[in-house]
Amino acid sequence: MFPQTASAHSPLPRTEDGNATLTIGEQSCELPIRRGTEGAPAIDITNLRSRTGYLSFDNGYANTASCESQITYIDGEKGILRYRGIPIEDFESRPNFIEVSWLLLFGRLPNREEYTAFSRELVAHADIDESMKNLFAGFPRTAPPMAILSAMINALSCFHQEFYELDDPSQFEKAAAQIISKVRTLAAFAFRRSNGLPYIYPDRRLPYVVNFLHMMFSNTYEQHLCHDAVADALSLFLILHADHEQNCSTSTVRMVGSSGANLFASCAAGVCALWGPLHGGANVAVIQMLEKMRDGSITPEEYVRLAKDKDSDVRLMGFGHRVYKTFDPRAKMLQRMCDRVLTTLGVTDPLLDLARKLEEIALTDSYFIDHNLYPNVDFYSGIILKAAGIPVNMFTVLFAMGRLPGWIAHWKEQNERPESRIARPHQLYTGNPKTPYVAAEGAR
Ligand code: ACO
Repeated sequence: MFPQTASAHSPLPRTEDGNATLTIGEQSCELPIRRGTEGAPAIDITNLRSRTGYLSFDNGYANTASCESQITYIDGEKGILRYRGIPIEDFESRPNFIEVSWLLLFGRLPNREEYTAFSRELVAHADIDESMKNLFAGFPRTAPPMAILSAMINALSCFHQEFYELDDPSQFEKAAAQIISKVRTLAAFAFRRSNGLPYIYPDRRLPYVVNFLHMMFSNTYEQHLCHDAVADALSLFLILHADHEQNCSTSTVRMVGSSGANLFASCAAGVCALWGPLHGGANVAVIQMLEKMRDGSITPEEYVRLAKDKDSDVRLMGFGHRVYKTFDPRAKMLQRMCDRVLTTLGVTDPLLDLARKLEEIALTDSYFIDHNLYPNVDFYSGIILKAAGIPVNMFTVLFAMGRLPGWIAHWKEQNERPESRIARPHQLYTGNPKTPYVAAEGAR
């Protein structure tokens, strides 16, 4: 029997707890207050415009709950992150990305049978259609791997049209397992393509992360050997990126999915959103920033000075977060993992020393203290990826691999909820008033 999302059987009631009163001039309007199980309550403004003629305005959705969700809980003031109620720290000692993926998708930890069945599906479908190699060959060698990944996830929708309709839960589980499995192959092939290397096919005997590293780094004549510490570090990296509630890329997946777009198309859009330097691309920007310091172009003190200067557009990359106003709990765990991996591998990386130095300066600087700017998930993650041999232009691809189960879980949750509607915000129009059409002289 296919697993249903745990909460689908017992949906949490939508708790309404009194009203808020909004007064606009002479007008007054009662708006229901809604509470979740934890976190800030919300004022439901769904009917605000029809009742008052006013829209709400919320630049960057900084104060908007765009949906109800039961997947991930964050308390940005206390630095708490939980997947389906489980604190993120509980995954640190025995990181298993597949187990966490199942948890996010179905709402509880899998039992042994469920875990085995899901793993089997992953193993059986790691291959991609052979003709997709022609698509890889069409990209220039210099193509950014994130562009390739997004295009290829979308291309999967051409090869797996059986997954367009996912109302049948067993079809959903297959689709989820296959996309999580195939994304690894696509990511590794993108790397091989940009390096002019022959493609290495997945090896059914290898676990998820080790298989990925095999496809990335094995030669046709020699299998890549992966240190356990590296496999654990990458599993933890993937887990810590697996979901983060309504972030930019997840909201994108939900927005695209809200139109009824299929899972592949929605996830491909998520990859595009993740690419930006203010989101997943920040892990690349952190390394580039640290490398500038290592190469002597700028000192940590000078960089921090620039980041505080409102006349410069420099930011301290890997610092600050829309939600966390204290340490990002993922940053703490990655810092610990970073120390562990480098020590185990016997690697000394000057970038780690520079990162520590930067952190020390920023955390004692009144600008960063006053603005609540602390290290985020991207601050230490790049150093771990570097130690694992992952090239910098693949960092955000690894982030996308990690975030995929979260995207899929949100796409599923949205599709399961009867109250889901197409996402369609309004705007406050500030353009021209009605203007007559007058063709420019000589334009026709
Ligand atoms: N360095 C210097 N100043 C910063 C930084 C930073 N990293 N981040 C925010 N600030 C300052 C802003 O200049 C602004 O100052 P002001 O109020 O005096 O004008 C204030 O803090 C608020 O900044 P916003 O940009 O409004 O904050 P927002 O919540 O919109 O942005 C973001 C959050 C994008 C993460 C921001 O902190 C940032 O650009 N950080 C660097 C990039 C980064 O590390 N991104 C990864 C985020 S985690 C993730 O997506 C996986």
